[in-house]
Amino acid sequence: MDKAALRLTLFGLLFTCVNLAANKKQDIDIYSFHINSTITSRYATTVITSRVANLLTQSQEVHFEVKIPKNAFISQFRMTIEGNTYDGVVKEKEEAQREYSEAVSRGESAGLVSAVGRTFEDFKTSVTVAALSKVTFELTYEELLKRRLGKYELLINAQPMQPVADFKIDVHIHENPGISFLEVKGGLSTKDLANAVTTIRADKDAWVKFYPTRDQQTKCDDCSKNGLNGNLIIMYDVERLKQSGDLKASEGYFVHYFAPTDIQRIPKNVVFIIDQSGSMSGKKIEQTRLAMLRILSDLAEDDHFGLITFNGYIQTWKSELLKATEGDVEEAKTFVKRITSGGSTDMNAAVLKAVDMINKHHQEGSASILILLTDGNPTKGETDPVEIQKNVKKAIDGKFPLYCLGFGFDVSFEFLEKLSLENNGVARRIYEDSDADRQLQGFYEEVATPLLIDVHLNYQGVANLTQTTFSQYYNGSEIVVAGQITDNSLESFTTEVIALSKSNKVVYHNNVPTDELNSDRPENENLIKRLWAFLTVKQLLEKE
Ligand SMILES: *[C@@H]1O[C@H](CO)[C@@H](O)[C@H](O)[C@H]1NC(C)=O
Ligand SMILES: *[C@@H]1O[C@H](CO)[C@@H](O)[C@H](O)[C@H]1NC(C)=O
Repeated sequence: MDKAALRLTLFGLLFTCVNLAANKKQDIDIYSFHINSTITSRYATTVITSRVANLLTQSQEVHFEVKIPKNAFISQFRMTIEGNTYDGVVKEKEEAQREYSEAVSRGESAGLVSAVGRTFEDFKTSVTVAALSKVTFELTYEELLKRRLGKYELLINAQPMQPVADFKIDVHIHENPGISFLEVKGGLSTKDLANAVTTIRADKDAWVKFYPTRDQQTKCDDCSKNGLNGNLIIMYDVERLKQSGDLKASEGYFVHYFAPTDIQRIPKNVVFIIDQSGSMSGKKIEQTRLAMLRILSDLAEDDHFGLITFNGYIQTWKSELLKATEGDVEEAKTFVKRITSGGSTDMNAAVLKAVDMINKHHQEGSASILILLTDGNPTKGETDPVEIQKNVKKAIDGKFPLYCLGFGFDVSFEFLEKLSLENNGVARRIYEDSDADRQLQGFYEEVATPLLIDVHLNYQGVANLTQTTFSQYYNGSEIVVAGQITDNSLESFTTEVIALSKSNKVVYHNNVPTDELNSDRPENENLIKRLWAFLTVKQLLEKE
C-alpha cells in the first residue's frame, strides 16, 4: 500500500452520524437532502447529497457539515456550483484553512474541506455561493459493517438544522446468503416519524425508506422547529448456510466471512483490571461498580475470574483466579460494592499483575482474556507509555488478548489503542453518559462467549491477504479475510480454517467451483476489491 493510499486513511473519521449544519439565519434554503446507502455483502457505500439555495441578493458562505462513522473512509467529495463540478480535496485543517482563505479573498466560489482527520468527528466544508445561486454537496463514504452481538448496524444521523422540503433516506441491502432479520431503530423512528419509515423485504434484499414530510420533520423525540435531529439505525443479520463460511469473489479478489455457530462455548479465564484513581470519582466509579455487578452475574459457572483494582497501589480481590461459583461470585460482588476512588494511577504494575495471575492459571481448553478499564494516564510507577507498551507486550507474549476500555476523554485513547492492538485486542471508548454502565456491559457481552481460539485461515493460489490469524472468535462476531486471487488456473477455490475448540482441534473445509464463486451482480464489480483495500488499509493503520 503506498503513501497516497495511507493518506486516504486520514479521512477515516470518528463517530457515527450525519449532520448538516446550515447557516443560522433562514437566508439559505436546504431544499433537498438525500442519503442513499447501498450495502452489498456487508460493505456499505453511502452518498449524502445536499442541495442548498442562497436566498440573499448577495453572495454568502454556505456550510456543509457531516459526521461519518468512525470506521468509514471518504471516497469522494464533490460540489456543484452554477453548473461547475469541483472534486473536493480532503485536506488537513491548517492547509485547507489557508487555501480556503485565499480563495475567499479572491472572491471565488471555492470548495475546500476545512477540518478533517483521524481524530476529528466532523467532515466540514463551506463555500461562497453567489447571490440567489445554488450549491450541491455530494459526499460518498464506504465502510465494512462489523458484526457485533449477532448483528450488523448501519447508523445514520441527520441534523439538517431546518426542515427540508425533499428529505429522503434510502437504504438497500443485498446479501447473497439471505437476510435473516431486519430492524429499524433510533430516534428518527419515534413518534410521528415512525410513519415515515417503510421497510420492504425479499429473500436476499431489503429496502428501508425514510421519507418524512416537512411537517413530520419537527415531530420526533429530539426534533424541533429546526427540523430533524436524531439517528436511524438499521440492524440486520444474514443466514449462515455453511459453517465453513460465506465466500464471494469478483475481478480477481475474494472475501471470506467466517462465523460458525455449531460450537460449544469455551470456558474463559478473565481478569478485570479496574482503575480506582481519583479521577474515577463520582458517577464513573458508580457506573463501573454497577456494570461489574452485572458482569459478575453473567459469568458462567465454569469460567474463572479475577479482580484487580488499582490507583497508586495494586489491590487484588484474591491472589489467584477462582471458579465462578455462586458463593465466590457473591463474595466478589461484596468486594466490588466497596470499590472507592482516590489516588494516582499505576497502570503498568496493575496490568503486569493481571498477566501474572492469568499466566499462573493456564488451563487447556480455556480462553484467557484481560480487560482493562481506565479513565486517565499513568501517573505512578512506570509512566512512559512506550515503556508500558513494551512491558505489557513482553509479559503477554501473544498468548491472550488485552482489551482496553477508555472511560471519557481525559485518557489517551491512542495509547490504549496501541496497547490493545499490540496484544490482539481492541480498545473501546466509553462515553461519560447516563448509559456508561450499559456500554461497559455491552462490551463485555461481545467477548463473553469465546467459541474458538488460535484461528488460522488458509487459502490456495492467493496473495496480499488481510489478517489470517485471530487469537479468539466470539459468538455473535465474524472473522473477515480478503485477498487477491493469483492462480486463475484453479477450477475451484479452497478455504481451510483450523482452530481449537473447547475439546479438540477443528478444521473447516470448503471448496467452491470458480464459476460459482464469481456470481456477483455486475453493478458491484469492483466491490470486493474495494472491500479488500478497505481492510488492508485499516490493518496497516493499526500496525502503525
Ligand atoms: C442509490 O444509489 C444506487 C447506487 O448508486 C442507485 O442505483 C439508486 O438508484 C440510488 N437510489 C436512490 C433512491 O437515489
Ligand atoms: C450464540 O449466539 C446465538 C444467538 O444469540 C445463540 O442462539 C447461541 O446459543 C449462542 N451459542 C453459544 C455457544 O452460546
